[in-house]
Amino acid sequence: MYQDRIRMRALKDRVMSADEAATLVQDGMVVGMSGFTRAGDAKDMPVALAKRAREQPMKITLITGASLGHDSDKALTEAGLLARRLPFQVDATLRSAINRGEVMFVDQHLSETVEFLRAGQFGRLDVAVIEAVAITEDGSIVPSSSVGNSASFAILADKVIVEINLAQPVEFEGMHDIWIPGHRPHREPLPIVNVSDRVGRTTVKIPPEKIAAIIITDTPDSASTVQPADAETQAIANHLIEFFTHEVKRGRMPARLPAIQSGIGTIANAVLTGFLESPFEHLTMYSEVLQDSTFELMDAGKLDFASGSSITVSQPMQQRVFQNLARYRDKLVLRPQEVSNHPEVIRRLGLIALNTALEADIYGNVNSTHVYGTHMMNGIGGSGDFARNAFLAIFATKSVAKGGKVSSIVPMVPHVDHNEHDVDLIVTEQGLADLRTLAPRERVRLIVENCAHPAYRDLLRDYYQDALKYGGQTPHALERAYEMHIRLRDSGSMLPQ
Ligand code: COA
Repeated sequence: MYQDRIRMRALKDRVMSADEAATLVQDGMVVGMSGFTRAGDAKDMPVALAKRAREQPMKITLITGASLGHDSDKALTEAGLLARRLPFQVDATLRSAINRGEVMFVDQHLSETVEFLRAGQFGRLDVAVIEAVAITEDGSIVPSSSVGNSASFAILADKVIVEINLAQPVEFEGMHDIWIPGHRPHREPLPIVNVSDRVGRTTVKIPPEKIAAIIITDTPDSASTVQPADAETQAIANHLIEFFTHEVKRGRMPARLPAIQSGIGTIANAVLTGFLESPFEHLTMYSEVLQDSTFELMDAGKLDFASGSSITVSQPMQQRVFQNLARYRDKLVLRPQEVSNHPEVIRRLGLIALNTALEADIYGNVNSTHVYGTHMMNGIGGSGDFARNAFLAIFATKSVAKGGKVSSIVPMVPHVDHNEHDVDLIVTEQGLADLRTLAPRERVRLIVENCAHPAYRDLLRDYYQDALKYGGQTPHALERAYEMHIRLRDSGSMLPQ
């Protein structure tokens, strides 16, 4: 049944098993693998590579678009294959190995990875493993549910292994827009001026002789694990909708809102779902991951168009979307992640960027990645690409985590992903702090009184009063700045006993 998916006759004899293809990967190699937040990842090669590494110990540098599905990172970690891993992950086993110092994890802005590759900073890219729905008559690759870094991996790698996935609908063909930047320093502008603009090819064009192996698989993407909206995420959405309504009324935002970017995870997805009940119509997205909320808004007639780099949805939504792709065809485009996350386009379109914080401090610095400032959670992903360049950079979080033992508003974040210069709005279920145009001392009251959980407000007020004794543009009592984190580490709660 795969014959019609390999349309270049000369390539049909490259079909082999994943175990055979895995022998193309040798110890010490740099491997680029498709996959972006579980979507469009190679399915059989990670299993075969893990098996190979268990039989014959070896180490590689593994670069992907973002996270992989199917517990692939778990299998690869347990097989001891990963020496270095970048630029993003969400796997508990890999996370532990990273935090034990066994895997060197390079936490990178998602738009930048292929720039590093092109500039030769990782050395050569030895092998690319790309999931596809088809190979065309001229040997071009048609990606599946994500583009991520796949196009540049295929272009830059010495050898390409293609996984044709029969479980991915061939109707993906035509949905991609592959634009690859030229060389610096005379690179042409990226000509996207509307979210729906198509500026590149629908396939990845490489010399067909680079395709060293073709694997046939029939495994769907693993479904996303985001949790449904709850009262707190609905409250966060309501605060944002009220804020946007106010901004429109004051003439500071058009009634047809700027395009929206929404980050990964439960909170960002649920907040966007909250827009179903908003007065806003004709929404558009210029985002990275298209989650369930994208399709809920589209099906409700609220969202006109979505540009992304991957479609990562729950199991029921996979059925709804993947079996009816034709219905979404003129409302969707999938782009390389360096285009979906491109600073130039984000600034030009004036995006509303909604990302998630683990914690924020009383001045608006945000930590999205490091628990206690030391232990990696997932990675910065594309949040920095968007926050630094958006018209409005919003960070959402519930005001407490771990049943109230952890406050998401703290005196000083122990790791900074998004500094006070890049953060416009902080929102929790408690309320919202609009930090734009405010000096650090003016921000404190808004963040503490509007966003912090009532159980922690006195602690934070007391800290700030103490900090004021030392003066400064951004006052801190340095000896107390991490007292809430230290209490959490030592007693299991940020609250005093
Ligand atoms: N300290 C310790 N743990 C915290 C915490 C804090 N301040 N705040 C949240 N957590 C924990 C939660 O308890 C939860 O743990 P669990 O999985 O054991 O239940 C976990 O972090 C996820 O939190 P949740 O509230 O469910 O939010 P989420 O699923 O929306 O994820 C991030 C939040 C920050 C972890 C996630 O959005 C992320 O990795 N962001 C960085 C990358 C990014 O923004 N990419 C998007 C660019 S497009």
